[in-house]
Amino acid sequence: MENKNSSFYKIVDLFGNDQTVIIEKKKNKPNLFSDYESFLDKFEIKKTTDDCYTPKDVMDIIINYVNDKYPLKNKKIVRPFFPGGDYENIEYEDNMVVIDNPPFSIISKICKFYLKNGVKFFLFCPHLTAFSSDIDCTHIIASADITYENGATIKTAFVSNLFGDIKIIGDADLYQKFKSLQERNKTNLPKYEYPNHIITVSKIAYCVEKGINLKFHKKEIKHYRGMDAQKKHGKALFGCGFIASDKAAAAAAAAAAAAAAVQKNENVIIWELSQREKEIIKSLE
Ligand SMILES: C[S@@+](CC[C@H](N)C(=O)[O-])C[C@H]1O[C@@H](n2cnc3c(N)ncnc32)[C@H](O)[C@@H]1O
Repeated sequence: MENKNSSFYKIVDLFGNDQTVIIEKKKNKPNLFSDYESFLDKFEIKKTTDDCYTPKDVMDIIINYVNDKYPLKNKKIVRPFFPGGDYENIEYEDNMVVIDNPPFSIISKICKFYLKNGVKFFLFCPHLTAFSSDIDCTHIIASADITYENGATIKTAFVSNLFGDIKIIGDADLYQKFKSLQERNKTNLPKYEYPNHIITVSKIAYCVEKGINLKFHKKEIKHYRGMDAQKKHGKALFGCGFIASDKAAAAAAAAAAAAAAVQKNENVIIWELSQREKEIIKSLE
């Protein structure tokens, strides 16, 4: 359905439900119609692990926030940023408000484009560099730690042209909303447990923090992105990891057990096997 003369964007209602709109690029006559399936196909193809997708509960907070300050009734909430999207080639209408998480690397360019073209926007932006470009809009700082769909937690700010001549808004209520969401998500988060044959950076860190040294040789382990059991759930090893030989897995398990013992009783003394004892063990069946 989509070709190089067309582009997509998503529209969202006040309850956060979205619909995809395919639009012919500006050069051609605009032709709006909905086609969710082809949007999803496209999304699957172009999705990269680098992209930080926004969970729905985060979007809900933002849409409600904007709606409180700038009533969105009779407005079309537009989300033009997704893989293969082309925000510059959308025929923006007067009643549209862009509320979205754009690629941070081109945030200044996007704001300038929207300001130049009179498009209303409320966009996510990086917190630490929120003031780095002198753009004629409002910076909304809520010290919001947002955990995106890929698991990365990024302190996020917002930038908008919906607030007239206000240059900076420091919003403590918005901060509280994101803080509560983080706390709710933390308590609801399933804990992943991996078998001993899977080595993650957290497993190593857990041991090191308890004073347990580990060492694995290159030939014992193989770089690994995700377990087969995870694939059908669209999950992977966060930050990747390694799959280990039986011997390395046993060593990892022993180190984890030793670390767990340290955690229970900080006064634990760990007796290590000597080289001589290791030789005895080797001679045993
Ligand atoms: C940070 S991600 C957020 C995706 C989505 N808006 C969300 O909130 O989950 C930004 C997306 O913008 C897309 N993107 C990059 N350049 C774009 C452009 N010129 N027009 C529209 N989207 C673009 C990227 O591929 C990426 O998927």
